[in-house]
Amino acid sequence: MKVLIIGAEGMLGHDLEAVLGVEHEISITTIYTLDITDLEKTVKTIGDINPDVVVHAAAFTDVDGSEERADLAYQVNVLGTRNVAVACQETDSALVYICTDYVFDGTKGTPYQEYDQTNPLGMYGKTKYLGEVQIRDLLDKFYIVRTSWLYGYHGPNFVATMLSLAQNMDQIQVVADQIGSPTYTVDLAEAINMLIKTPAYGIYHVTNSEHCSWYEYAQLIFQMRGVEVELIPVTTEEFGSTAPRPKYSVLDNYHWRMQGHPPLRSYKEALKDYLELLEKES
Ligand SMILES: NC(=O)c1ccc[n+]([C@@H]2O[C@H](COP(=O)([O-])OP(=O)(O)OC[C@H]3O[C@@H](n4cnc5c(N)ncnc54)[C@H](OP(=O)(O)O)[C@@H]3O)[C@@H](O)[C@H]2O)c1
Repeated sequence: MKVLIIGAEGMLGHDLEAVLGVEHEISITTIYTLDITDLEKTVKTIGDINPDVVVHAAAFTDVDGSEERADLAYQVNVLGTRNVAVACQETDSALVYICTDYVFDGTKGTPYQEYDQTNPLGMYGKTKYLGEVQIRDLLDKFYIVRTSWLYGYHGPNFVATMLSLAQNMDQIQVVADQIGSPTYTVDLAEAINMLIKTPAYGIYHVTNSEHCSWYEYAQLIFQMRGVEVELIPVTTEEFGSTAPRPKYSVLDNYHWRMQGHPPLRSYKEALKDYLELLEKES
């Protein structure tokens, strides 16, 4: 298939290019070659490439920054996504849109299914959710992929931040009352490759299996890496981020399983691979 990756310079975008490139004819755009907030250019660029599938991995992803720069988050995540959808309408391309666990408010207490009520708490989640709405209003051929707590080799992420903090600090405070599923961008890219092979369109939750708090996650990172550092569990309120975040945003990969796909491996196994890659490349 002819596959266009939008946002190929991002953390997920890089791994999408590597994974999808093995089987498909790939085109890419980055913020330097296509700003998706430009409707005319988005329609022209996608029209010229005329792909079978567009994977839209571009976004304003700064969760706290989305509170302070709400208009920019809206422009990129809502209007930019609308623009990509309009372009896909014209080329009749299927669209993969990457969305987030932050569309939920975190009060359910058990894993969220795709049909559960959304109720984003902050501007990032609100704008990402409105991106979903634009796609559902405009297109028939779409896969909305909600995922969570991404980390990968090509972007800043929690694992890299923890390892870097440990180089200069003896004590690190980590939030212990937010629970989710860390997801490796390589595993997500492979799952997306499975999805686009059939026209089984719809909303999918796709994450690595099992879940933890940020605190438990940090403990595992340092244990696997053999790093001695004192971790101090703190509450969300004590940590004091700008944006509100869901306390429990574990996503049940229900539609994915019902569709016959095997569960993604445990986040612990995936983390081991990622840490080995970091070690090898250092
Ligand atoms: N990271 C997570 O934990 C997480 C969790 C759940 C869902 N997601 C979703 O997964 C997708 C990929 O995330 P990621 O972590 O790979 O994000 P990322 O590394 O921030 O990549 C996003 C890319 O989009 C680009 N971009 C921003 N504004 C743009 C514009 N107007 N036009 C074109 N490109 C633009 C960014 O460029 P600049 O860097 O130059 O701004 C960046 O290269 C996003 O849709 C995100 O919402 C992420």
